[in-house]
Amino acid sequence: MLEGVSMYIMSERMRIHGGIPLKGEVAVSGGKNASLAIIPATLLASSPCTLENVPDIEDVRVTIEMLRCLGAEVEFENNVLLVDPTTVKHHSVPYEYASLMRASYYLAPVLLGLFKRAEVPLPGGCPIGARPIDQTIKGMTALGADVEIKGGAIHASTKGLRGADVYLDMVSVGATVNTVLTAVNASGNTTIHNSAKEPHVVDLANFLNSMGARIKGAGTDTIRVAGGRPLRGSTYTVIPDQIETGTLMIAAAATRGDVIISGAIPTHMEALSAKLLEMGVYVGEEDDRIHIRSEGKLRAVNVKTQVYPGFPTDLQQPMAALLSTAKGSSTITETIYESRLLYVEELNRMGANIRLFGRTAVLDGADQLNGAPVTANDLRAGASMIIAGLMAEGVTDIYGLNCIQRGYDRIDEKLRRLGARVEILGTGR
Ligand code: EPZ
Repeated sequence: MLEGVSMYIMSERMRIHGGIPLKGEVAVSGGKNASLAIIPATLLASSPCTLENVPDIEDVRVTIEMLRCLGAEVEFENNVLLVDPTTVKHHSVPYEYASLMRASYYLAPVLLGLFKRAEVPLPGGCPIGARPIDQTIKGMTALGADVEIKGGAIHASTKGLRGADVYLDMVSVGATVNTVLTAVNASGNTTIHNSAKEPHVVDLANFLNSMGARIKGAGTDTIRVAGGRPLRGSTYTVIPDQIETGTLMIAAAATRGDVIISGAIPTHMEALSAKLLEMGVYVGEEDDRIHIRSEGKLRAVNVKTQVYPGFPTDLQQPMAALLSTAKGSSTITETIYESRLLYVEELNRMGANIRLFGRTAVLDGADQLNGAPVTANDLRAGASMIIAGLMAEGVTDIYGLNCIQRGYDRIDEKLRRLGARVEILGTGR
């Protein structure tokens, strides 16, 4: 057997025996994208920080290794992260970690604030488009940084950061995060115009404020930062994961189940909840719980991804699995990324009828999906295949498990708790 082929065949995979309606209650984990913004910010504190409700996912573990490489003391157990930033002494991040995920470049403004220089490899992350960082460079430069891309890395330096008015050319989560992380160390006030409003941007601002920062307007399109304030260690609980909540909601609807998702924030889910109601799914909301119940054929709908509070781009892939057997013809238009629809070919291998026209997928409802071996090439494509496997007749093997483990904390255990037949197969298990 050829070496390369044996590695592929032996790779870990998730096996799902489909056709079982999910039933019961499941608790959602802490936010991946909130944690990936908050953890780098702990290095700005003058004393140790404690973060609770941190998901145990690959991207968090890679971030922890990057903090350790910089000299920080980090402990992580039972979803509680302890960071002692007082021993940080390096200003450059190793390539082998930074290239594994998108959020690694959040360390650039943090290290710039600590050492007046930073060297961080260009980020990796899901292959869903070009994902340039021009707006991050614009934000940092506006605040007094000299930023150069050289040798595949971000080289930033400054003689002193100073507050300014920053007008982002487009709404960007990463650019908003990086400009806030730069502004807290700038002398004077910064106003960020056209900022992203995602829940994890608000969570970062709330965490920084708990450290002593003074940030107003997070969650709106204008964020004001009073820079240069001393930041001390704090204890903070990360918000629940908006995208895992949505993934579980869609899985419950797709399997015609009856599921309570606890520890969620219903107001974060309004765009998805509205679409599910349009399809004929029951959506009940109370405090921190969302109840999903569905039966029989669901109606086709049209989905268009938008920045928050619009329909999240990270949920369009899970949604495609649900829509693949809705009654009638649906469309999904992806306005955020230029190539985040290629995964539909894997759903078509399972019996879906999805055609692509540029950034729009047309989904003609199939009677049912049938289990098949499929490969996840990015995190949320993996979520789409999990949902397709749960709803399909027969067995689905999902390869590329490492993609899924980047962003979902023990999703197989959560699904088994809801009655699904899910197992992890392959080397080392
Ligand atoms: C964050 O990515 C998330 N990742 C993504 O989630 C999410 O899809 C995205 O926000 C949008 O909500 C993390 O938080 C770690 P952007 P980010 O900057 O910050 C273009 C997941 O599945 N753009 O808002 O990279 C860019 O190419 C991941 O959890 C520029 O052109 O998103 C993209 O098309 C996937 N120039 C669009 O804007 C820039 O300077 C959105 O990017 C920045 C972005």
